[in-house]
Amino acid sequence: MTSNETKSDPLAGATTLLDPVELHKAVSHVGRQINDYYGEKELTVVAVLHGAIVFTADLIRELRMPVRIETVTASSYHRDARRPGDLVVRMEEKQHLRGRHVLLVDDILDTGGTLSRLREEIAAFEPASLRIAVLLDKPSRREVDVHADFAGHEIPDLFVVGYGLDLDGRYRNLPQILALQPLESDDDASASDTAAENGAN
Ligand code: XMP
Repeated sequence: MTSNETKSDPLAGATTLLDPVELHKAVSHVGRQINDYYGEKELTVVAVLHGAIVFTADLIRELRMPVRIETVTASSYHRDARRPGDLVVRMEEKQHLRGRHVLLVDDILDTGGTLSRLREEIAAFEPASLRIAVLLDKPSRREVDVHADFAGHEIPDLFVVGYGLDLDGRYRNLPQILALQPLESDDDASASDTAAENGAN
């Protein structure tokens, strides 16, 4: 359990959902599933920046087949760091994916909007296969029909940070996953109408 005395600190009252040992087990579990599924086939891992960097770095070291790495940036324009906004996708050299076995890797599957959009964009380049791996899955929040082929942990509807996951760009470096206190109410969030670009992914 992690707590903080300062009220304005977003980590105040946060609790540890997954500690480093549990994270290591979860990553190994996902790695085994991927090894079993692909065998010796070469895999092109596409990491969704920035959230998936830590998970991807650990995951690829569990993989036994030849691996190539690409990245895609998915960022949202939104006024509240905990709520999704309009997605902006940037990826160099999508042509590299044609005919490859592509594994899209993200930190968390939440509403499904991000991975469904990315899946659609990558599918247009006709990979040999396209699968999704996530560390965390929040099935109760799903709004779009997308599922993870390989997943570490199902979690309840909590906002989490650490191990690559951020709040307003911070806390990605934490070695554990913390669950933050729920927001007070939607009315509080709509009080601010300043749109800001935030690379929350
Ligand atoms: P969607 O809703 O598109 O969300 O499936 C995927 C992206 O939203 C971010 N996200 C979170 N980031 N804590 C975070 O730090 C969370 O609890 C959380 N839920 C969603 C994340 O970037 C993910 O790629």
